[in-house]
Amino acid sequence: MEKKKIILTGDRPTGKLHIGHYVGSLKRRVELQNSGLYDKTFVFIADAQALTDNIDNPEKVRQNVIEVALDYLACGLDPMKSTIFIQSQIPELCELTFYYMDLVTVSRLQRNPTVKTEIQMRNFEASIPVGFFTYPISQAADITAFRATTVPVGEDQEPMIEQTREIVRRFNHIYGETLVEPEILLPDNAACLRLPGTDGKAKMSKSLGNCIYLSDTADEVEKKVKSMYTDPTHIKVSDPGKLEGNTVFTYLDAFCRPEHFERYLPDYPSLDELKAHYTRGGLGDMKVKKFLAAIMQEELTPIRERRKEFEKDIPAIYDMLRKGCEAARETAAATLDDVRCAMKINYFDDEALISEQARRFAEK
Ligand code: TRP
Repeated sequence: MEKKKIILTGDRPTGKLHIGHYVGSLKRRVELQNSGLYDKTFVFIADAQALTDNIDNPEKVRQNVIEVALDYLACGLDPMKSTIFIQSQIPELCELTFYYMDLVTVSRLQRNPTVKTEIQMRNFEASIPVGFFTYPISQAADITAFRATTVPVGEDQEPMIEQTREIVRRFNHIYGETLVEPEILLPDNAACLRLPGTDGKAKMSKSLGNCIYLSDTADEVEKKVKSMYTDPTHIKVSDPGKLEGNTVFTYLDAFCRPEHFERYLPDYPSLDELKAHYTRGGLGDMKVKKFLAAIMQEELTPIRERRKEFEKDIPAIYDMLRKGCEAARETAAATLDDVRCAMKINYFDDEALISEQARRFAEK
């Protein structure tokens, strides 16, 4: 039998999703969902993982579950094609995590570069919550429970997928072929891999206030694009401009397609020509920003409008999520059965075990 191709990915509900999430992962997963190349798509809201570093702020997580669900639907995730669910509602994931913990060492977790950075950012160095420290193991449970073959995520998630692969190999080596080894699917465009904030800082983050959200109004998008970081030495229009670290051009790399020139900037045949003119001098920032703003509005307007529609019936969204959780639980429970069986802790559904032991004790 050919192995099924299964997509799985998720997001922590700690805020509304922004265009960094969109180009880095969301857009791709909608394309994958619609490609017909995959047998199943699972997308989930990682509320339990969000709680590992927000334990004193459950209300934030609770309020953002619906925001993320709305962002998903607005971007085109379709519950008829994808199973959309909430992590904490799948208790099977906890049990898998508990068993996987035996397969991972403390020093291996300490080497995880993403967790290392996150520990620094949160000032956890002196005292790290165990749940936070071990979240890569629970992420391995998220992925393997659904037998995911393909995990479309951003670059920062690479260590988690590697950790998952190690757990799968170790598990299968000890207990026999049971779990599926996943592969990461990174964005193919470098600008999408790590979209900087509007201020030019390496990453979009809510606390830095440098994000463009999928739910931003047209006016907000316009304002944010117009105030974007460019090349601080490009003062007069006639000055030559730099492209490296120039956020407006990084965004163009991520969003601009050839047809945008015909529509919004017909005096230029291509992005290369626009860049060449900017580098030479004689092209003002405002002209480039206006072009970018037009492209962003074209991309974001349909998302914003769909979000507005979905916002009109919140109970229906929860209903969709509840159904998604039920379907997800079924899949996770089947994997857990296989895991229990492989680990020889399935006492009550193993007739052979009981009869063999009965015979052995009778012979004593
Ligand atoms: N760690 C991911 C993030 O911070 C969220 C996540 C949790 C996830 N479990 C996952 C992503 C499993 C992909 C697969 O965004």
